[in-house]
Amino acid sequence: MRIRIMIGGALMAALSLNVLAEDQALTPAHNALNVLQSGEVSFSRDVMPIIQDYCVSCHNPSPTAKGYAKSGLDLTSYEGLMKGTKFGKVVVPGDSQASTFTKLLTGTNKGLKMPMGLNASGTLDRQYILTLRKWVKQGAKNN
Ligand code: HEC
Repeated sequence: MRIRIMIGGALMAALSLNVLAEDQALTPAHNALNVLQSGEVSFSRDVMPIIQDYCVSCHNPSPTAKGYAKSGLDLTSYEGLMKGTKFGKVVVPGDSQASTFTKLLTGTNKGLKMPMGLNASGTLDRQYILTLRKWVKQGAKNN
């Protein structure tokens, strides 16, 4: 039992390292990744649905939404995302490494990781992370 748990942990670690590794190494098996292989990522078509599913529950303008209450970050719209938190911007157009919005998805900010409390590994699916990163790299447009 204990060994199985350890193996599971190692697998998780390997998977999340994999996420960090290469942006471009996408295989045809990842069908959902068409958007990443071809052209431009669209905010409304590709990015917003991910945010809706994984972020808006805590980042909407209501006092009971934990993320909004604590940081002021409203992810219900493009404008809210670009405005950032009460401390400052979370998107640096063109630079996904410098953007807190995408940095926190792989947990590089003092252990803070988003979406908070998602699952055991606490990491968004690889293809979603890559989609969000690519959108930022392409200039974080309202497209
Ligand atoms: C279960 C609730 C929850 C979910 C879901 C969630 N967040 Fe958060 N988020 C928080 C909380 C709470 C904070 C404030 C953390 C703090 O300041 O300690 C926060 C803060 C943030 C910040 C600001 C961090 C900073 O440096 O000030 C960003 C950016 C962020 N979240 C992005 C996201 C993204 C992107 C998603 C979806 C992929 C997401 N969050 C999903 C709860 C959540």
